[in-house]
Amino acid sequence: MQQLTNKRIILGITGGIAAYKSAEVVRLLKKSGADVRVVMTNGAKEFITPLTLQALSGNPVHHTLLNPEAEAGMGHIELAKWADVILVAPASANFIARLTQGLGDDLLTTLCLASEATLAIAPAMNQAMWHNETTQYNLQRLQDLKGRKLHIFGPADGQQACGDVGPGRMLEPELLTQSLANLFDRGMLAGVRVTITAGPTREAIDPVRYISNHSSGKMGYALAQAAIDAGAHVTLISGPVTIKAPSRVHLVNVSSARDMLEAALQQTPECDIFIAAAAVADYRPMTVANQKIKKSGDTIEMTLVKNPDIVATVAQHEQRPFTIGFAAETQDIDTYARSKLARKQLDLIIANDVSRQDIGFNSDNNAVTVYWPDGQQDFADRSKNALAHDLIELIAQRYHNPPHTV
Ligand code: C5P
Repeated sequence: MQQLTNKRIILGITGGIAAYKSAEVVRLLKKSGADVRVVMTNGAKEFITPLTLQALSGNPVHHTLLNPEAEAGMGHIELAKWADVILVAPASANFIARLTQGLGDDLLTTLCLASEATLAIAPAMNQAMWHNETTQYNLQRLQDLKGRKLHIFGPADGQQACGDVGPGRMLEPELLTQSLANLFDRGMLAGVRVTITAGPTREAIDPVRYISNHSSGKMGYALAQAAIDAGAHVTLISGPVTIKAPSRVHLVNVSSARDMLEAALQQTPECDIFIAAAAVADYRPMTVANQKIKKSGDTIEMTLVKNPDIVATVAQHEQRPFTIGFAAETQDIDTYARSKLARKQLDLIIANDVSRQDIGFNSDNNAVTVYWPDGQQDFADRSKNALAHDLIELIAQRYHNPPHTV
């Protein structure tokens, strides 16, 4: 169920005997790669303990609306905005009635009111309560609501905990998880592990000075977001930048090229795609002074030594991932990019013309040409975010159809 990778799910649990099955729902959602936060009503806590759900979800369980301590963690509005989908399972007749009325008399109903996320409910109740005209009227009203993305999963028919037979059983956890996954498209990189390097590196001269460059990290960060959107698990190895990392990435902060190499090699055996978007300093000072270098003569000499080539090292690793590099060129882009593709043994290279002042390095826009051994594709001027999504689409196509299988 790779559609659920990276998805943020609030699982609402209301008071009903089926609540014991919610523990299994949490386990299956987590197994599918989703981030799960559980919200319980007071009734739910009579059937299953918050501790069980906290242990399974790996997150604190939310249950009170007006508790300053809980609100200081993740407040109800923040939680409402956080979610991609709210699944209420089991949804009792009482909860459905309160939802229909638009009440916000506890945390779960308030979240349903405050969130614009898709809402899915899995009704579970005694068959007579299910058949009750008021319950059916409420469900019909919910379905008629315009502008609310609402899905009703189940209920199933059969033997009930109270001994009755009929509709009102909560769908089994496997079926619920599958129904939830069906609400989402399967991302192009669903479940694929992607590592991206981004930003500049800093090469120390002495304790207060360093050699670096103007890279903003924007392109690498935009690629990280686009890969997340495509369902990938993303590790972002970043040099020092001032922009905020996408919230669903595993961020590894580094400073020098050698730190970046070490972090990249640690990820290499565990990643499927490696994208080198960092502007790595080609050279570093041969020695780093222990003390701040004092001002003395009119000139100063410094010997620089070559830094390791991170992307080439990854590409030559015995457990090599599908490897992508960038080429910033000022002339003969085609020739230089293709020779870099071959020399570094890359699967793809993304080349841009850095002689143009209006795009590239610190700008929000970029235009590139992508080369692979037997093809190429141009991407004209567009925002780095739009470009990142287009590049991830191409990368996913090439990754899924490497030359030997086409
Ligand atoms: O050789 P050049 O610096 O032009 O290659 C650029 C590509 O190689 C980029 O993808 C950059 O991230 C990567 N690179 C690297 N380690 C270096 C230098 C460049 O990974 N030391």
